[in-house]
Order: sequence, then structure tokens, then C-alpha cells
Amino acid sequence: MTLLIENGRVITASDDYVADVYCEGGRVSAIGAQLASRVRAERTIDARGKYVLPGGIDVHTHLDMPFGGTTSTDDFETGTIAAAFGGTTSLVDFAIQYRGQTMRHALDAWMEKASGKAVIDYSFHMILTELPDAGLGDMDVMVRDEGVTSFKLFMAYPGVFMVDDATIFRALRRTGENGGLVCMHAENGGVIDLLVQEALRRGEKAPKYHALTRPPRAEGEATGRAIALAEMAGVPIYIVHLSSADALRKVREARDMGLPAFAETCPQYLFLSYDNYEEPGFEGAKYVMSPPLREKWHQDVLWKGLAKDDLQVISTDHCPFCMAGQKELGADDFSKIPNGAPGIETRLTLVHNGGVRKGRISLNRFVELCSTTPARMFGLFPRKGTIAVGSDADIVVFDPEKHQTLGVKSLHMRVDYNPYEGTVVHGAPTHVISRGNVVIENDRFVGKRGAGQFVKRGPSLAREL
Ligand code: URP
Ligand code: ZN
Ligand code: ZN
Repeated sequence: MTLLIENGRVITASDDYVADVYCEGGRVSAIGAQLASRVRAERTIDARGKYVLPGGIDVHTHLDMPFGGTTSTDDFETGTIAAAFGGTTSLVDFAIQYRGQTMRHALDAWMEKASGKAVIDYSFHMILTELPDAGLGDMDVMVRDEGVTSFKLFMAYPGVFMVDDATIFRALRRTGENGGLVCMHAENGGVIDLLVQEALRRGEKAPKYHALTRPPRAEGEATGRAIALAEMAGVPIYIVHLSSADALRKVREARDMGLPAFAETCPQYLFLSYDNYEEPGFEGAKYVMSPPLREKWHQDVLWKGLAKDDLQVISTDHCPFCMAGQKELGADDFSKIPNGAPGIETRLTLVHNGGVRKGRISLNRFVELCSTTPARMFGLFPRKGTIAVGSDADIVVFDPEKHQTLGVKSLHMRVDYNPYEGTVVHGAPTHVISRGNVVIENDRFVGKRGAGQFVKRGPSLAREL
């Protein structure tokens, strides 16, 4: 398949110019002016007046994930279709190594979930729930042979995912030898557990108590501790789904000291707030996620962090559960509400609308946060994350004026609510291209189930960022 995208405004993390982009054999093979006179394209897209962006890269999703007594509702088919609608062309999901099981087993299980279903390219981080001696060698194998070059560890969810500081330190130290990167869920699980038990004993069972028992300081403390452990191990660290000013302060202080500390935040922490938990009845359950939504003032601090590079990535932490039958599990006890919310489809439009249009970040920064740095951080660059000759032709033609009303009816995620229901946003993809093939065209999915490929990732470029 050969494809010519004509006259668009090509925007990368560093450039902004009008050009034609020619794609051949799944890659970008030429960029220039008036390419139509030099190449023969089977398909031409007129991108005049539109942005031509590198496809979005979402490095934090949970598709088909067993969690909280149920399973996230989007699988690798529905979830990747929704991602594509939103302009995301690659994602990095999480395989889970459960206690007593090997990383190999986990990877095989998640490969099975994804292969034949995903419509865009995908890769995996490995969640570690323990690290016996044999696991250290398994980490090396994952990095060296399997292209699984990052590991998520949890300082929260005791009894499920939480590991102790020694385990974290061992994992961090090993990444110093094998070139992997540790991603940290940084909340103090012990303190939170105690607060949760006390709240339940007082009869505080409504969804808002999820947030009130997970204070920002519990995130700040864990973030500082995670960074200190990484400093002692002499390696970079990446904090996932950072939600609060408290945690950001720890990252900023570390970076000011020259430490390789990195962090992502997610649209929910930029656009939603604690107030959502005060919605009537059980509605607050829609926003039960960890870390929880914070008071509104944290949003401005996070936006400044994004603008100043104290935060480097925007991911989604997409982990959808329906209100009916799933969130409902916690109708009488907030601690039983499965943690997570949908977002895989709305990331680019929300960040464009609330970030670029509001003047909080530039267009180049938008691309950097949603595509280029994720690719560099997680070993996908320069194959993905930019528009350059030789890179995969993962491209989004984005109309900055196209507007849509977000909601269950207009979106494609397999979940019965949307946290942004009724919100009008400007800026949306008109065409989404995965390795040279058009997968979304004017609000229609035209890709193929199973066309997405597993991508073996290289080492993180965190050490160079
Ligand atoms: O509430 C969340 N974030 N659910 C997904 C699991 C995780 O911790 O990322
Ligand atoms: Zn997490
Ligand atoms: Zn997550």
C-alpha cells in the first residue's frame, strides 16, 4: 500500500512545516513539497488546513485485566479500536506476573489476549508482584530477548500487588545492569489501608471516601521514597499516573538535583477533580481510581509541570469498568469498587482542547508529551513517535477545528459511562494511519482485527533525556 498525505501541517516535537508525506511498505519514505509529481500513490489524503501528527502513543493501559474481583471491560479488540478512533496508534499495556508464576507465563498469557485482536501496534510492561532470585534472571531475559524493557511495581494495594522496599530496590538495581526501566505506582499502601479500615469502621462507605482515605501526602511520601531508592540504586525511575502537587514536588526536587526522575500524568488529573466524587448517589464511583482525583487547584500545578518538563508524558491509565455489575460491587463499601476509569479514546482531543487551545502547552509540546517522549522513554523511538523518513507510518491527520461532544453515544470504549459526558472539545482526528494503512477515516473504523503487531521494545532512552 502506498499513501500520500498532501499539504498538511507536519508537526513533530521539534518542527512545524507544511509538506507532503509519502508512505510505502508501512514506513514514511519521503517528505517534501509536491511529491505527487514524483511518486505514484494508490491512495491520497488531502490534509490541507490540518495537522499531520505522529500517532499517539499511550504507555499506560489495562485491557482485559482482572482486577478488583472483575475484569476491565475493553479487550484488545475493542480497546485498540477505541484508541485508534482517538488518534493513538501504539500502546504499552501491562502483563501481570502473579505470585508463584514466572514472567514468561505472564507474557504468554498477555500475548494470547492481544494477538489476533489488536488493530494497532502494542507492547507490554511487566508488572512484578515478587522478585525471588530466579526473577532477577527473568528480568534480564525480558529486556534482552523479549523486548519487555520496563517493569511496574506497586507501593500500594497490599495483598494484591504491593511489594516491599527491598523488592523495589532489588528490581531497580537490576535495571542498572540490564538497561530496563522501573515504573512505580507511588502511594503509601500501608497508611492508606489503615485509613480505609478506620473509615469503614466509622460507617463511611460512599465513593468519596476512596479519595479521602488516599491523601496527596501518601502519594508524595511514596514518590519521594521511590526516587530515593532509585538514587541509591543509581538508576532512572518513572512515576506512573502522578496526580498531585505533593508528588510533583518530589519529582521536581529530584530533577533539580540532576537525578533521572521522570513522571507521567493523565487527563483525568488535568480535567476532573475531587468535586466529581460529590456527585449525587453512587455517581462518584465513576471516578474511583488510584491515585484518586484531587482538589481542583492541583490541576494548574500539573499543567505547569507539563510545560516546564517536570512531567514528561501524558498517558491514560485506561482501565474501564461498567457502573452496572462492576462499579456496583462497591455499592455498600467504597473499598470494593474496582479502581479505574476509561480514557484511551479521549486523550488527544482533551489535551489539545484543554492544553493547546488554552495556551497551556505548545503544539510541539503536545506531540512531545503524547507521542515522542513516550516513544523515547519506552524504547520505541525512532521507529515510532515522530514523522521522519524510515519511521513507521503511524500518522494522525488531525483537524483542529473539528468538534465533538464526548459521551457514551459518540465514543467507542466498551463501558456504560464516560467521565466527560457532555463536554464539547475542539480538535479530533479525521484519518488515523497505522503502519501505512488507514484504520480510521471520517469517524469510521476501516482497519482489520488482528492487524496490530507486538513490538519488541529497545532500552529506554531515559538515561539520555
Ligand atoms: O485505578 C487505577 N489506576 N487502576 C488501574 C491500576 C493501576 O494502579 O494503574
Ligand atoms: Zn497504578
Ligand atoms: Zn494503571
